[in-house]
Amino acid sequence: MLGFTVLSSLLVLLFSVVNVQAAPAAASKKYVMSKNAQDLFDTSMSWQDGFWDENIGYLVSADNTLPGRYDSRQSAWYAVGLVARNGNGDVARAERIIANLYKGQYKDPSKQWYGDIQQCPDEPTPQEGVYEPNTYNSWDPNWRDFVGAAFVIMIEDYEYRLSKETVAIIKEMMYLLAIGDQYRVGGVDDDNLYAAYSNPWMMRCILQSYAGSYLNNTNMTQSGEKWGKEIYDLFKEYDTFSEFNSPTYTGVDMFALGVWIRYAPAGSSLPSYAEEMFGSLMNLTKSLYNANLKNFAGPFDRSYGFDMNQYFAITASTVWGLVGRDYAPMPGPISGMFHISDFGFSHLIALGMPQIVPLISEDVLQSFITYPGEHSFTRQAYSPPFDTYPRNISVWSSDYIHVGGETIMESKIGGPATSSSAYNPAVIQWYVREGRMGYITLHPTQPWIHAVAGEGFLDITYPNITSASDGAAPFTFLVSAFDVYPNDNLTTIADLPGLKMEVSGNVNLTSEIFYFDIDSNINDFWSFNSTWSMPENFTGVPHIRFDITEYPTSPVANYSLSDL
Ligand SMILES: *[C@@H]1O[C@H](CO)[C@@H](O)[C@H](O)[C@H]1NC(C)=O
Ligand SMILES: *[C@@H]1O[C@H](CO)[C@@H](O)[C@H](O)[C@H]1NC(C)=O
Ligand SMILES: *[C@@H]1O[C@H](CO)[C@@H](O)[C@H](O)[C@H]1NC(C)=O
Ligand SMILES: *[C@@H]1O[C@H](CO)[C@@H](O)[C@H](O)[C@H]1NC(C)=O
Ligand SMILES: *[C@@H]1O[C@H](CO)[C@@H](O)[C@H](O)[C@H]1NC(C)=O
Ligand SMILES: *[C@@H]1O[C@H](CO)[C@@H](O)[C@H](O)[C@H]1NC(C)=O
Ligand SMILES: *[C@@H]1O[C@H](CO)[C@@H](O)[C@H](O)[C@H]1NC(C)=O
Ligand SMILES: *[C@@H]1O[C@H](CO)[C@@H](O)[C@H](O)[C@H]1NC(C)=O
Ligand SMILES: *[C@@H]1O[C@H](CO)[C@@H](O)[C@H](O)[C@H]1NC(C)=O
Ligand SMILES: *[C@@H]1O[C@H](CO)[C@@H](O)[C@H](O)[C@H]1NC(C)=O
Repeated sequence: MLGFTVLSSLLVLLFSVVNVQAAPAAASKKYVMSKNAQDLFDTSMSWQDGFWDENIGYLVSADNTLPGRYDSRQSAWYAVGLVARNGNGDVARAERIIANLYKGQYKDPSKQWYGDIQQCPDEPTPQEGVYEPNTYNSWDPNWRDFVGAAFVIMIEDYEYRLSKETVAIIKEMMYLLAIGDQYRVGGVDDDNLYAAYSNPWMMRCILQSYAGSYLNNTNMTQSGEKWGKEIYDLFKEYDTFSEFNSPTYTGVDMFALGVWIRYAPAGSSLPSYAEEMFGSLMNLTKSLYNANLKNFAGPFDRSYGFDMNQYFAITASTVWGLVGRDYAPMPGPISGMFHISDFGFSHLIALGMPQIVPLISEDVLQSFITYPGEHSFTRQAYSPPFDTYPRNISVWSSDYIHVGGETIMESKIGGPATSSSAYNPAVIQWYVREGRMGYITLHPTQPWIHAVAGEGFLDITYPNITSASDGAAPFTFLVSAFDVYPNDNLTTIADLPGLKMEVSGNVNLTSEIFYFDIDSNINDFWSFNSTWSMPENFTGVPHIRFDITEYPTSPVANYSLSDL
């Protein structure tokens, strides 16, 4: 095991290498942020300035569920932005953050959280009986990757702006982040980092690869190459990331691919893998995106909301950086957005724009501004070890409506990330009025779901239920609350503003419970709950089908429901 003393002497050695280094290789390449990327960078950074606590030297969390708490990861990202911005006092502030983060980095190599950072300065070290070690709770293993990938940018492009002392700290931090990340093996010690967990895996590859070159550590370099090939091979099986279609994490994937392309050391395979995966991902993005609705069609493997105009998802920043804020699928006011804290990743998206812009074709770019026209498609995505079979995805996309479904066979409920609130295997989204969109999403209660979407329909069965004796197996849908007018008397999923449907299948057609509970929400969203039960004593496979009989074909609202 590499102890702390050994590490320090290693650093002294590396330190002298840096002193003789001339201008960083990547920084000398032509690298100019576009007007849109600069606007995104500036907006994100000045918004974060408001969370800075000069007394303690950290950012206060922007997460509206954690008022007053400090946020180490956000502070790390902010430090990278400060060094890039390089305004009055920015670098000094960044150096202070880095010194603080280093103090809060776990340095005991016998622990699973080795090299990770405290989530906030008030957080004790995980310890049995005191602060129970609990992954994603008392420590977050992904933070090594999130911080490490951001530090790659800071080191490669801006290290020359930092003092020798800070550079020495960063080297030590990078070593700890990368070596600690190597402790993660999917399936061992409760760890879930498989290549199928696309977004942190992508960041770990460049962390290893870059740290290997920076620290002259062959094992790290080889780990980056090995893991990079692993995700590339998995991607190529079905031409998509396993973590399929996440408004939040697809943005992280795009960012990470850009970091692979620009920052991987000479001789690495990562840039060529990344260029190929990026081109394919952008083609898929074009198929899924609807600029009229400013949303991606479902299904979503992981989503923190159901209408991007109402919450912040990281791909919104990618769109902002590419084509400007007016087209970004996100709420107008930044203050108070649902899932607002992720906006603090946006300046990193902006810094990554120059390396992805040249790889985006004109038709993909244009699709963020103008909807390219009605189309349907099917895809497959595969998440080993969670999927029994590759998941089958089907999407129908039209001007003012899209429907998406996915078939899945897993051992647990909630998709590969086992989260019923984030996993949305069957989704209908349509234009309601005045730029607002409605949604219907199946709330998963079964591990096997067969949801198929097509032109004008959504068809869902639960294939591993064969009779009432397997359980009641109701179908529950979350239905958007809209901006209902008082006389929009909504009593059923079949008759909603702008959307009428015929419901069929072997469900009990008179069993729908349709209600709104202000005390319950999923992902902070208020939704109606529409639940359909199976008849008593049924035999067969539970089945519900929606045939859409009326949907909007223009943004001009026309309702038979309301007497507006
Ligand atoms: C890098 O490490 C190798 C041994 O692993 C060593 O031979 C070489 O001198 C090192 N290079 C630098 C620049 O430190
Ligand atoms: C090299 O890295 C791998 C992770 O890719 C790790 O499992 C292995 O133990 C490392 N080997 C040494 C000698 O450090
Ligand atoms: C993306 O789509 C275009 C056609 O629209 C095609 O020429 C190109 O090969 C595709 N790229 C990838 C990587 O699939
Ligand atoms: C997906 O489709 C393939 C080919 O039709 C089929 O073999 C497989 O069982 C399907 N997977 C699921 C999870 O339904
Ligand atoms: C349904 O799936 C679960 C989880 O895989 C399994 O334990 C159960 O036996 C299945 N039920 C049927 C009827 O196949
Ligand atoms: C709403 O519709 C239901 C069912 O059609 C009806 O019973 C109820 O009286 C209506 N409520 C109002 C306020 O119009
Ligand atoms: C939806 O309503 C049903 C029936 O009342 C209930 O059992 C279920 O827990 C609700 N689901 C959610 C996500 O609120
Ligand atoms: C169908 O649902 C209605 C309303 O809950 C209930 O009265 C009826 O008994 C159900 N029918 C069957 C066959 O379960
Ligand atoms: C369901 O089965 C029970 C027990 O056999 C019976 O008493 C009941 O009437 C059945 N219900 C229906 C709706 O058929
Ligand atoms: C509005 O709806 C009515 C009846 O529902 C229909 O007759 C009319 O053609 C619709 N108008 C437009 C512009 O779609």
